[in-house]
Amino acid sequence: MRWLWIFACIYSLGAAPPAAYQPKDYSSLLDMPGFSEDLMQMHFKLYQGYVKTTNALIAQLKSLENSGQARSFEYGALKRRLGWEFDGMRLHELYFGNLGGNGKPSAAPVLMRALIAQYGSYQKWKSAFVATGLIRGIGWAALYIDPEDGRLVNTWINEHDTGHLATGSILLVMDVFEHAFMPQFGLNKEKYVEVFFSNVDWDVAEERFLSLFPSSQVQKKKHQHRSTKY
Ligand SMILES: [Fe+2]
Repeated sequence: MRWLWIFACIYSLGAAPPAAYQPKDYSSLLDMPGFSEDLMQMHFKLYQGYVKTTNALIAQLKSLENSGQARSFEYGALKRRLGWEFDGMRLHELYFGNLGGNGKPSAAPVLMRALIAQYGSYQKWKSAFVATGLIRGIGWAALYIDPEDGRLVNTWINEHDTGHLATGSILLVMDVFEHAFMPQFGLNKEKYVEVFFSNVDWDVAEERFLSLFPSSQVQKKKHQHRSTKY
């Protein structure tokens, strides 16, 4: 199914220029326990700004290319900026996308088995992820999977665009820019991390994992017959 979707995208791109990116609606997250509505509304507005700026940058770059100014300093500066804005847009979508759950990792049995196999226990993995998120600075803590060998890696992404693992895919991501917590939690970043984990939608992380390793579905079915506590 994934390949059919990619083929459909490529086919449609060949037929017409891609439309501008549209901000996605995450208003269902407004009633998440622990997060204030003001914080979430502010965060949505900020995300929408990334979508808008990404579209503006793409249009401006196209305009410079069409007017023969692709070797200009302006073109180079805007080109460098595109990755930052685009990653800001996509990382927020991944972040909002893995929120809104009940925080119970039992919803991701296949992923949990892989995490436990590599880290020893869910708690050991979580401690390492939290430590990554508490690094001083602004950026993201992300659980990446290296599709080459299925390795699960907790990663620090500096700002939006530095530290990504090439060819890797993000299964879970936590925003640790100051805007994500300071308006509500002040300097208490630990409390924000706790509230984040209590709202993780592990179903989504599981789906991201299984979309990369569909053969794991077999393992999932086997696992559903057991009850495991994390
Ligand atoms: Fe953010």
